[in-house]
Amino acid sequence: MLIILDEAYFDYAKDDHRYPDSMHYRYDNVITLRTYSKIYGLAGLRAGYGFAHEELIGNLLKVKLPFEPSSLAQSAGIAALADKEFLHRSLELNARGLRLLTDSLAQMGFTVVPSQANFVMIPLESASAAEWLVEGLLQRGVIVRPLGAFGLPQCVRISTGTDEENAMLIDALEKMHLSAWREARASEKDDARAPLGSARS
Ligand SMILES: Cc1ncc(COP(=O)(O)O)c(C=O)c1O
Repeated sequence: MLIILDEAYFDYAKDDHRYPDSMHYRYDNVITLRTYSKIYGLAGLRAGYGFAHEELIGNLLKVKLPFEPSSLAQSAGIAALADKEFLHRSLELNARGLRLLTDSLAQMGFTVVPSQANFVMIPLESASAAEWLVEGLLQRGVIVRPLGAFGLPQCVRISTGTDEENAMLIDALEKMHLSAWREARASEKDDARAPLGSARS
């Protein structure tokens, strides 16, 4: 049996002792996958890397598509690993963004699932609340991800961005008159689930 550990967010979480570093594992059926799409900011290059027993890697190479990832992507990836300054800046930016998003969203009455990645997840009271939020933000130029495809239709995932982008998100949310929407929903008697603010204390 092959065990695949997807560590896309490893660099964000690695300072927390609860987060394992599977690169230290030595099993012949375990492969660690990491990506350049997150903290390295190179999602457009479509590159990542795997770490596993050499026999396992040998078998993977037999079925790997030729010229993939491109030599340019490979060179950029190798260079990115050495760019500690970028990594540091990226970590700081994300930590700032997570703090801002977590605090601001909580102040607005949202429940925020604690995160060590580069996004926060907010569960809303219904799928329609999540849709309303996604659509409203989109109209204000902010793309967030609805999580219906992950079996969580009432949840929304919001990634951290640059300081300006994070401020734009908060501004957009503030302009969306959440409280008016919540009050309107709360007074709808049939689907009378608790409004966002009162669901938590
Ligand atoms: C858990 C996880 N793994 C992998 C990826 C994507 O990695 P890549 O861009 O290398 O396909 C994501 C992106 O959202 C992710 O959330």
